[in-house]
Amino acid sequence: MTRPRVAILISGRGSNMMSLIEAAAAPDFPAEIAVVISNRPDAHGLARAQAANIPTRMIDHKAHADRAGFDAALHAVLVEEQVDLVCLAGFMRLLMADFTQKWYGRMINIHPALLPSFKGLHTHERALAEGVRIHGCTVHFVTPEMDVGPILMQAAVPVLDADTPDTLGARVLAQEHVIYPAALRLVVERRATLREGRVVIDEFMLAPPALVVPPAG
Ligand code: GRF
Repeated sequence: MTRPRVAILISGRGSNMMSLIEAAAAPDFPAEIAVVISNRPDAHGLARAQAANIPTRMIDHKAHADRAGFDAALHAVLVEEQVDLVCLAGFMRLLMADFTQKWYGRMINIHPALLPSFKGLHTHERALAEGVRIHGCTVHFVTPEMDVGPILMQAAVPVLDADTPDTLGARVLAQEHVIYPAALRLVVERRATLREGRVVIDEFMLAPPALVVPPAG
Protein backbone atom coordinates (compact mmCIF):
# COMPACT_ATOMS: atom_id res chain seq x y z
CA MET A 1 0.00 0.00 0.00
CA THR A 2 1.34 3.46 -0.79
CA ARG A 3 1.85 5.68 2.21
CA PRO A 4 0.64 9.31 2.34
CA ARG A 5 3.25 11.69 0.98
CA VAL A 6 4.61 14.36 3.33
CA ALA A 7 6.47 17.53 2.34
CA ILE A 8 8.69 19.19 4.93
CA LEU A 9 9.22 22.94 4.54
CA ILE A 10 12.40 24.38 6.00
CA SER A 11 14.45 27.58 6.04
CA GLY A 12 17.43 26.59 8.17
CA ARG A 13 19.31 23.85 9.98
CA GLY A 14 16.57 21.23 9.78
CA SER A 15 16.87 19.34 13.06
CA ASN A 16 13.09 18.85 13.26
CA MET A 17 13.15 17.82 9.61
CA MET A 18 15.71 15.14 10.51
CA SER A 19 13.54 13.87 13.37
CA LEU A 20 10.67 13.41 10.90
CA ILE A 21 12.91 11.78 8.29
CA GLU A 22 14.33 9.39 10.88
CA ALA A 23 10.90 8.49 12.25
CA ALA A 24 9.52 7.89 8.76
CA ALA A 25 12.43 5.57 7.95
CA ALA A 26 10.88 2.99 10.29
CA PRO A 27 8.92 0.44 8.26
CA ASP A 28 5.81 0.85 10.43
CA PHE A 29 5.64 4.64 10.08
CA PRO A 30 2.38 5.41 8.25
CA ALA A 31 3.73 8.18 5.95
CA GLU A 32 6.73 8.79 3.73
CA ILE A 33 8.77 11.97 3.47
CA ALA A 34 8.37 12.63 -0.23
CA VAL A 35 10.18 15.95 -0.53
CA VAL A 36 11.94 18.66 1.47
CA ILE A 37 11.33 22.20 0.24
CA SER A 38 13.38 25.23 1.27
CA ASN A 39 12.74 28.90 0.57
CA ARG A 40 16.43 29.62 1.11
CA PRO A 41 19.23 28.27 -1.07
CA ASP A 42 21.66 28.27 1.87
CA ALA A 43 19.46 26.26 4.28
CA HIS A 44 21.73 23.72 5.94
CA GLY A 45 18.81 21.28 6.08
CA LEU A 46 18.90 20.87 2.29
CA ALA A 47 22.26 19.05 2.44
CA ARG A 48 21.08 16.96 5.37
CA ALA A 49 17.96 15.89 3.46
CA GLN A 50 20.03 15.03 0.39
CA ALA A 51 22.40 12.97 2.54
CA ALA A 52 19.33 11.06 3.74
CA ASN A 53 18.28 10.45 0.10
CA ILE A 54 15.20 12.64 0.30
CA PRO A 55 14.40 14.66 -2.85
CA THR A 56 14.74 18.40 -2.32
CA ARG A 57 13.30 21.47 -4.02
CA MET A 58 14.27 25.09 -3.58
CA ILE A 59 11.76 27.88 -4.09
CA ASP A 60 13.66 31.08 -3.46
CA HIS A 61 11.23 33.63 -2.06
CA LYS A 62 13.46 36.41 -3.41
CA ALA A 63 12.68 35.25 -6.94
CA HIS A 64 9.02 36.15 -6.45
CA ALA A 65 7.66 39.67 -6.56
CA ASP A 66 5.22 39.18 -3.69
CA ARG A 67 3.91 36.70 -1.15
CA ALA A 68 1.09 35.59 -3.41
CA GLY A 69 3.59 34.67 -6.15
CA PHE A 70 5.70 32.64 -3.73
CA ASP A 71 2.65 30.87 -2.29
CA ALA A 72 1.43 30.00 -5.80
CA ALA A 73 4.83 28.52 -6.72
CA LEU A 74 4.87 26.54 -3.48
CA HIS A 75 1.35 25.22 -4.05
CA ALA A 76 2.28 24.18 -7.60
CA VAL A 77 5.29 22.19 -6.35
CA LEU A 78 3.20 20.48 -3.65
CA VAL A 79 0.62 19.46 -6.27
CA GLU A 80 3.32 18.32 -8.70
CA GLU A 81 4.94 16.22 -5.96
CA GLN A 82 1.52 14.74 -5.08
CA VAL A 83 1.85 15.82 -1.48
CA ASP A 84 -0.87 14.84 0.98
CA LEU A 85 0.43 16.56 4.12
CA VAL A 86 2.76 19.47 4.84
CA CYS A 87 5.01 19.84 7.90
CA LEU A 88 6.52 23.26 8.57
CA ALA A 89 9.83 22.74 10.36
CA GLY A 90 11.62 26.01 11.04
CA PHE A 91 10.01 27.52 7.93
CA MET A 92 10.47 31.26 8.35
CA ARG A 93 7.99 32.54 5.78
CA LEU A 94 4.48 33.76 6.50
CA LEU A 95 1.95 32.03 4.28
CA MET A 96 -1.12 33.93 3.09
CA ALA A 97 -4.69 32.98 4.03
CA ASP A 98 -5.43 31.74 0.52
CA PHE A 99 -2.67 29.16 0.83
CA THR A 100 -3.33 28.11 4.44
CA GLN A 101 -7.03 27.64 3.64
CA LYS A 102 -6.17 25.32 0.74
CA TRP A 103 -4.09 23.18 3.10
CA TYR A 104 -6.23 23.50 6.23
CA GLY A 105 -6.25 20.22 8.12
CA ARG A 106 -3.32 18.99 6.05
CA MET A 107 -0.55 21.34 7.24
CA ILE A 108 1.06 21.34 10.69
CA ASN A 109 3.77 23.41 12.36
CA ILE A 110 6.08 23.10 15.36
CA HIS A 111 6.50 26.11 17.61
CA PRO A 112 9.12 26.40 20.39
CA ALA A 113 6.74 27.48 23.18
CA LEU A 114 3.58 26.37 24.92
CA LEU A 115 1.00 28.15 22.79
CA PRO A 116 -0.95 30.35 23.19
CA SER A 117 1.95 31.81 25.20
CA PHE A 118 4.94 33.23 23.35
CA LYS A 119 3.82 33.31 19.74
CA GLY A 120 6.40 34.59 17.28
CA LEU A 121 10.17 34.75 17.63
CA HIS A 122 12.72 34.63 20.48
CA THR A 123 10.47 32.46 22.62
CA HIS A 124 13.19 31.21 24.98
CA GLU A 125 14.49 34.72 25.76
CA ARG A 126 10.92 35.89 26.40
CA ALA A 127 10.08 32.88 28.61
CA LEU A 128 13.16 33.62 30.74
CA ALA A 129 12.33 37.33 30.91
CA GLU A 130 8.79 36.53 32.12
CA GLY A 131 10.12 34.13 34.75
CA VAL A 132 7.84 31.25 33.79
CA ARG A 133 8.67 27.95 35.53
CA ILE A 134 7.42 25.78 32.68
CA HIS A 135 8.14 26.20 28.99
CA GLY A 136 7.88 23.84 26.05
CA CYS A 137 6.78 23.27 22.49
CA THR A 138 3.59 22.84 20.49
CA VAL A 139 2.56 21.09 17.29
CA HIS A 140 -0.55 22.67 15.77
CA PHE A 141 -2.53 22.84 12.56
CA VAL A 142 -1.73 25.91 10.49
CA THR A 143 -4.36 28.62 10.07
CA PRO A 144 -4.05 32.08 8.49
CA GLU A 145 -3.07 33.70 11.80
CA MET A 146 0.50 32.88 12.87
CA ASP A 147 0.99 30.37 15.73
CA VAL A 148 -2.71 30.20 16.49
CA GLY A 149 -4.09 27.02 14.89
CA PRO A 150 -5.70 24.05 16.68
CA ILE A 151 -3.23 22.36 19.04
CA LEU A 152 -2.30 18.73 18.38
CA MET A 153 0.38 17.98 20.94
CA GLN A 154 2.53 19.78 23.50
CA ALA A 155 5.51 18.92 25.66
CA ALA A 156 6.47 20.88 28.76
CA VAL A 157 9.93 21.25 30.27
CA PRO A 158 10.99 22.93 33.51
CA VAL A 159 12.75 26.28 33.46
CA LEU A 160 15.80 26.16 35.73
CA ASP A 161 17.28 29.15 37.56
CA ALA A 162 20.61 28.79 35.78
CA ASP A 163 19.05 28.60 32.31
CA THR A 164 20.17 30.74 29.42
CA PRO A 165 18.17 30.97 26.20
CA ASP A 166 20.55 28.34 24.78
CA THR A 167 20.24 25.79 27.58
CA LEU A 168 16.47 26.24 27.75
CA GLY A 169 16.21 26.10 23.96
CA ALA A 170 18.17 22.86 23.87
CA ARG A 171 15.85 21.28 26.47
CA VAL A 172 12.82 22.34 24.44
CA LEU A 173 14.36 21.22 21.13
CA ALA A 174 14.92 17.71 22.45
CA GLN A 175 11.17 17.51 23.11
CA GLU A 176 10.31 19.01 19.71
CA HIS A 177 12.09 16.04 18.19
CA VAL A 178 9.87 13.68 20.22
CA ILE A 179 6.46 15.26 19.67
CA TYR A 180 6.72 16.26 16.00
CA PRO A 181 6.94 12.70 14.63
CA ALA A 182 4.34 11.57 17.19
CA ALA A 183 1.92 14.34 16.15
CA LEU A 184 2.45 13.61 12.45
CA ARG A 185 1.63 9.97 13.13
CA LEU A 186 -1.62 10.97 14.88
CA VAL A 187 -2.69 13.03 11.88
CA VAL A 188 -1.75 10.42 9.29
CA GLU A 189 -3.53 7.67 11.19
CA ARG A 190 -6.57 9.97 11.47
CA ARG A 191 -6.51 9.62 15.24
CA ALA A 192 -6.42 13.41 15.53
CA THR A 193 -9.24 15.16 13.77
CA LEU A 194 -10.43 18.72 13.56
CA ARG A 195 -13.86 19.42 15.00
CA GLU A 196 -15.14 22.99 15.23
CA GLY A 197 -11.64 24.42 15.18
CA ARG A 198 -10.25 22.14 17.89
CA VAL A 199 -8.38 18.86 17.75
CA VAL A 200 -10.12 15.75 19.01
CA ILE A 201 -7.86 12.79 19.76
CA ASP A 202 -9.05 9.24 19.35
CA GLU A 203 -9.61 7.63 22.74
CA PHE A 204 -7.56 4.61 21.68
CA MET A 205 -4.49 6.70 20.99
CA LEU A 206 -1.20 5.19 22.05
CA ALA A 207 0.83 8.37 22.59
CA PRO A 208 -0.10 10.85 25.34
CA PRO A 209 -1.22 14.28 24.06
CA ALA A 210 1.06 16.09 26.49
CA LEU A 211 4.35 15.13 28.03
CA VAL A 212 5.92 16.68 31.10
CA VAL A 213 9.62 16.08 31.17
CA PRO A 214 11.36 16.15 34.58
CA PRO A 215 14.61 18.11 34.97
CA ALA A 216 17.75 16.18 34.15
CA GLY A 217 19.87 14.96 37.09
C1 GRF B 1 12.59 25.05 16.00
O1 GRF B 1 12.81 25.50 17.32
C2 GRF B 1 11.14 25.13 15.64
O2 GRF B 1 10.29 24.91 16.72
C3 GRF B 1 10.99 26.55 15.17
O3 GRF B 1 12.19 26.83 14.48
C4 GRF B 1 13.23 25.98 14.98
C5 GRF B 1 13.75 25.25 13.79
O4 GRF B 1 14.84 24.43 14.12
N1 GRF B 1 9.80 26.71 14.38
P1 GRF B 1 15.29 23.28 13.14
O5 GRF B 1 15.55 23.92 11.77
O6 GRF B 1 14.18 22.28 13.08
O7 GRF B 1 16.54 22.72 13.72
